Amino acid sequence: MVNEVPPSDQDIAKLRRSLSNVGGPSRYRGDPALKDQLEAAFTPPDGFPERALTHAFHPWPGRMHPHTARSLIAMAPEGAIADPFMGAGTVPLEALLAGRQAVGNDLNPIGHEVAWVRTRRFSKAATQALVARAKAVWKVAEGRIEAPRRVSPELARWFDTQALHEVLALSEVLREGRPEWPGSPADPLSRTLRAVLSSLLVKASRQVSDSITKVDRVAHDPTPVGRVGHWFKKRAQELAAELDEVTVAVSREVPEPLLIKGDAREVPADLPALAAVVSSPPYPGVYDYFAHHLLRCLVLGIETGSVADREIGSRRQSERIGLEVARDRYVDDLARVLRGWSRGLVPGGFVALVIGDGQVGKKVVRVMPLLTKAAAAVGLQIRGTVSQARPVFSGARDEGPADPRPAPKEEHLVWLEPTLVPEARDE
Ligand SMILES: C[S@@+](CC[C@H](N)C(=O)[O-])C[C@H]1O[C@@H](n2cnc3c(N)ncnc32)[C@H](O)[C@@H]1O
Repeated sequence: MVNEVPPSDQDIAKLRRSLSNVGGPSRYRGDPALKDQLEAAFTPPDGFPERALTHAFHPWPGRMHPHTARSLIAMAPEGAIADPFMGAGTVPLEALLAGRQAVGNDLNPIGHEVAWVRTRRFSKAATQALVARAKAVWKVAEGRIEAPRRVSPELARWFDTQALHEVLALSEVLREGRPEWPGSPADPLSRTLRAVLSSLLVKASRQVSDSITKVDRVAHDPTPVGRVGHWFKKRAQELAAELDEVTVAVSREVPEPLLIKGDAREVPADLPALAAVVSSPPYPGVYDYFAHHLLRCLVLGIETGSVADREIGSRRQSERIGLEVARDRYVDDLARVLRGWSRGLVPGGFVALVIGDGQVGKKVVRVMPLLTKAAAAVGLQIRGTVSQARPVFSGARDEGPADPRPAPKEEHLVWLEPTLVPEARDE
């Protein structure tokens, strides 16, 4: 019996929760020489410390599992590691830990800030100053909670009054600075603390969850006075300890990561030689990354420009243009990204992608045919693919003969290599 009842927010939360690499039985196709390593990379071992270092600092839907990033980076020849869709910066951080030059890119301004924070190597004195600064910022902000300020209705609907004014007072103080310290972004501590505020915003708000951008209609008790301030200081303290771990774990000789806030289809000209591109592109029609972080941009006063329109495979855009067009556009976009970023690969270099099936309306979008087409168009061959089943789509069907069962979704780890030298591929 087909369940045609629309999914609840909770169902959607389960379906859309961070999918990446939850392990499970694997199916492998391709070169047998890569099978064991790729399967192991896609299956995090029990007890892997996935919240260690700064990995759990900030929520980001669809994060790559650090075990997968680490395993793939370890397979790369000497050279830099790039992630054109770095999101919250898992791959750049893992590249630093492996002693590599990291290149990370994402369209999303919040992702850029979070990746920047997560890859800092602050001295012990700086992390102590971070904790002290958080207290000082809250002290000033506390005195400004009641200050008259204009709040747009667009923002007001996401918070109860107390939480909103605590959040806005913190944001103002961090942006403006004080005579004794500069504001963000001039000052690394203020900049870091803005990311701290960003990390707790959804929790402080009435948004259902990080990936469900709706106001929670369930009645909650009003936020107690000082609650947001308390979280802010506590998160700063936790982050300080996490950053201390990063500083100890990353060798001093490793160069600063090159972090870019750009469209992955437009590749910077001056990239270093790349040993590998390790990335997780947006899955077709699954997430609206920009919408997930809109609240953060509003509170932090971050200009968003045309970010929403430039997101590849966004759910919102895919539903607007329809399945056929969305599929073609996804292939073209992936091809542009793959062409640009694989051009700088050293001999023996590879592209490894974690990518999954998507959904447009009630139709399943199988991603492997799209990736295969995009790769072939730019002279990359798929040498190995590990696939694992994920929770079923919400009432979605594959195309073709009517099949009453909901379609199982798959997530893949795909290894691609250039078939030709770069010059020949450009022709
Ligand atoms: C699956 S997530 C990557 C998550 C990341 N691997 C991590 O561990 O946090 C996909 C990312 O692609 C980004 N994105 C979407 N369209 C983009 C574009 N045109 N250029 C650059 N980044 C884009 C989104 O902002 C999102 O962060």
